[in-house]
Amino acid sequence: MSETAKITLQGQSYEFPVVTGTENEKAIDISKLRDQTGYITLDTGFKNTGATASQITFLDGEQGILKYRGYKIEELAEKSSFLEVAYLLIYGDLPTKDGLDKFQKRINKHTVIHEDMKKFFDAFPYTAHPMGQLASLVSSLSAFSPESFNTDASKEDNDLVVIKLLAKMPTIVSWIYKGALGRPFIYPKSKNDYITNFMHMTFGKVTEDVEFDPVVLDALDKLLILHADHEQNCSTSTVRIVGSSGANLYASISAGISALWGPSHGGANQAVIEMLEHIKNDGGDTEKWINKAKDKNDEFRLMGFGHRVYKNFDPRAKIIKKACDNVLEKLGINDPVLEIAKKLEEAALHDPYFVERKLYPNVDFYSGIIYRALGFPTEMFTVLFALGRLPGWIAQWLELRYNQEPIGRPRQVYTGKTERNYVDLDKR
Ligand code: SDX
Repeated sequence: MSETAKITLQGQSYEFPVVTGTENEKAIDISKLRDQTGYITLDTGFKNTGATASQITFLDGEQGILKYRGYKIEELAEKSSFLEVAYLLIYGDLPTKDGLDKFQKRINKHTVIHEDMKKFFDAFPYTAHPMGQLASLVSSLSAFSPESFNTDASKEDNDLVVIKLLAKMPTIVSWIYKGALGRPFIYPKSKNDYITNFMHMTFGKVTEDVEFDPVVLDALDKLLILHADHEQNCSTSTVRIVGSSGANLYASISAGISALWGPSHGGANQAVIEMLEHIKNDGGDTEKWINKAKDKNDEFRLMGFGHRVYKNFDPRAKIIKKACDNVLEKLGINDPVLEIAKKLEEAALHDPYFVERKLYPNVDFYSGIIYRALGFPTEMFTVLFALGRLPGWIAQWLELRYNQEPIGRPRQVYTGKTERNYVDLDKR
């Protein structure tokens, strides 16, 4: 007998099916609720509402578990590569060696962007935030890729659009960085792997090839893996809902980039470093700032702390914290904000305010310290989050498309003025 949920409304009882996921998550299927009862549900911020059934990523917030297509994030971060994880998220299984080589080669055919796009880079003032540039530039790719508009495109046609976007994103990201510095753009090289090409275009030299420290390449690869997907977070939900209208992949990803920009979401990695720098310059009194974070009358929040789903340690934060120590030691960097971050974490994890609310460090708390050690400026941190999240966004968009999910259109409860008649201007 399958489980059901019973509710009684105005003396009448109704039953709704219970859906059980492969990891035993339970949900009440309310797709017929309004038809049967005239009622809708209300759940501001969707804290208790599932938007879809997905086969891509599983989170267990209480246990602090994250798996991509069934593989634990700890294993993938240790043993896989970002390109292999991108393949896994998008196509559903780990590639064979030959499959991965072919994937890399296909991507390397499309890493160059249309020369006309340089006009867009030149049009931005050097002060333009990289996330605003990225959202605009990714959306502008559709101008050079009309095949991306086809809503009933074949899987092969969609796959070409996916490969082009995966291939061009590192080029766009590195050129945004170069543009801000007024330095010449460096073109990708087909002999390079994904991460090396990105570092070549970002920190390489026009006049000669640069060898990059394997510690740096490995740290960046690991960070991108850790950011690659995270089920129905704010920006992924944005990508899905924009895609549900039939909008093309570039437009949908551009919308996701804009959603990620917010300091409550991906923008937190920039906000964390700014917060740590501020605390350092303020004398490093972590207790003072912990108390400000607890004070309801103070708008200060401990950036990089708390999570909608994780009520235990964010597994990614644990991996990044360890990588932080490793990378800074190997690169011989002593970053004072790392010690401040660790003191804040230690204090918060023993403070009842944070313990009661189950507030732990999230993915953004330590990531910025590594990005900074790798040589990236603070304003580029969220763009790097977007670079990592791209394969997850793509996989989620494709899943919505191939499942032919309906256009997303939530309902509401109206609490405004009831009907009233128009009053002429001279009578108001
Ligand atoms: C990401 O969803 C994802 O998966 C996102 C992400 C991904 O990979 O896509 O994991 C990436 O966005 C990580 C989160 C990055 N954001 C930050 O670090 C910003 C700081 N964190 C908060 O703004 C907050 O914790 C959120 C936005 C992350 C979650 O907010 P919720 O789930 O809406 O929780 P809430 O705001 O209702 O907070 C519950 C309580 C409140 O106190 P009370 O009203 O119960 O007294 O906890 C408090 C909050 O005031 N609280 C904090 C806090 N976060 C929550 N208090 C101080 N500092 C904080 N950081």
